[in-house]
Amino acid sequence: MSDADEPMADPSHELADQDRPAAAEAPPLAGRIPRATGRTVPDAPEEIVINVADVAIYYGSFCAVGGLTVQFGRREITALIGPSGCGKSTALRAFNRMNDLIPGARLTGSVSYRGQDLYGPRVDPITVRRRIGMVFQKPNPFPKSIYDNVAYGPRVTGMKVPNMDDVVEEALTSAALWDEVKDKLRQHAFGLSGGQQQRLCIARTIAVRPDVVLMDEPCSALDPISTAKIEYMMTELADEYTIIIVTHNMQQAARISDRTAFFTTEVDDATGRRSGLMVEFDRTAKIFSTPSDQRTEDYISGKFG
Ligand SMILES: Nc1ncnc2c1ncn2[C@@H]1O[C@H](COP(=O)(O)OP(=O)(O)OP(=O)(O)O)[C@@H](O)[C@H]1O
Ligand SMILES: [Mg+2]
Repeated sequence: MSDADEPMADPSHELADQDRPAAAEAPPLAGRIPRATGRTVPDAPEEIVINVADVAIYYGSFCAVGGLTVQFGRREITALIGPSGCGKSTALRAFNRMNDLIPGARLTGSVSYRGQDLYGPRVDPITVRRRIGMVFQKPNPFPKSIYDNVAYGPRVTGMKVPNMDDVVEEALTSAALWDEVKDKLRQHAFGLSGGQQQRLCIARTIAVRPDVVLMDEPCSALDPISTAKIEYMMTELADEYTIIIVTHNMQQAARISDRTAFFTTEVDDATGRRSGLMVEFDRTAKIFSTPSDQRTEDYISGKFG
């Protein structure tokens, strides 16, 4: 194990064994507006956790998505919305270096995490993915017990925990699943319903105490009751975490997110290929009432997409 692989203790946010540059300066607080859940949303994030500047992501020579300039704030929920194929998942995977696992995928521009270049040469992608966890569209519990699913991350990352039972209970409580599973923690995870499995995957992700949670359409396979539970849980988690969620459900984006980035697809005149483009990023209330860009307006009013 190299130094860079060493698990980090909270509250350190370092991604490698190097001195961390100063965190981004918080912008001034102005023009706060309430969000649906009653929290207030300042003009710009008070504390930027991930700063994305002029990013484009390619698969080989194909530019899947470009124009990405967005700031993800601490304790905020940011939704990424837009039609199928516009590059939402591609963008999300870039925020914890999951695209590294796809041969031919590459990125231009800059992504920084708490002032560190996420793609810097000394940064360890495994550490990145522990700090910036991901929940996928389809629940993917491990073929283990409920307990072992949640304990897995703390065990493999060598987290020093005084009592694993407490860690498991806390993560399952945060994922709004504890009451449903507390009497069957040793049962196999595959015996849970789809909605429960997804909440288990969220518990598994947060058990290693990440700083940021990325979610790619986490409710798309779920019924409305499970969806409501996960939405409620996300707004609770946002008291502690930075959450970035891809969703096709615009009501969901409007209900739970503080900020929204809208993506679209455009045909490249030179190649004739359809590429994704981030069009607009703003407070969710603004995007859904008075967006700045006509393409956003057309999408949210149902004229397109
Ligand atoms: N592994 C890959 N290799 C090559 N091209 C890819 C790969 N993954 C995605 N793409 C292409 O990149 C573009 C963006 O795909 P992506 O999955 O990010 O879109 P999306 O907005 O998440 O779509 P959806 O809403 O359907 O999930 C698409 O043109 C897609 O075909
Ligand atoms: Mg997708």
